[in-house]
Amino acid sequence: MAMHNVILPLLVVAVVTLLGSSFGLQYIVGDSIWSIPPTNHFYTNWSSSYTFRTGDTLYFDFDSPFYNLIEVSRGELESCTANQPYKAFMEGPATLPLMQKGVFYFICNVSNYCALGLKVSVTVEQNSPNLAPNSQV
Ligand SMILES: *[C@@H]1O[C@H](CO)[C@@H](O)[C@H](O)[C@H]1NC(C)=O
Ligand SMILES: *[C@@H]1O[C@H](CO)[C@@H](O)[C@H](O)[C@H]1NC(C)=O
Repeated sequence: MAMHNVILPLLVVAVVTLLGSSFGLQYIVGDSIWSIPPTNHFYTNWSSSYTFRTGDTLYFDFDSPFYNLIEVSRGELESCTANQPYKAFMEGPATLPLMQKGVFYFICNVSNYCALGLKVSVTVEQNSPNLAPNSQV
């Protein structure tokens, strides 16, 4: 398991480099494993430092059952609950294609990890037409 966490991100970086922008970019969420961050605002800070576009992919690197990934509403992210989850990923790692623009909210609801900062909101913008020739604006 320790090996997995080291090697897989390296492979993902290689894939991003090869595919380039024509297939969208793959982002490793937090630029590391999806786990309790050093500061409560770590993931907010991470997501605000990138511009995500439709066609990009989020890669949440975690080992189940120690961590999970639940897509929730903004309200549930703020309260760290997952009573009405949109999607639940109990098996890690999880790869999520960003299909539409909007703001998406993710938490881990194992123990109190969300309260410790294991949550992220991601703003996705429409890819520009010249990068996706077939899409209508
Ligand atoms: C956010 O990231 C910047 C750049 O890496 C860093 O200087 C800053 O301290 C970070 N802020 C928080 C709250 O983590
Ligand atoms: C986490 O959320 C999932 C999906 O709503 C739920 O099935 C599970 O019971 C929750 N786990 C905890 C510890 O709250």
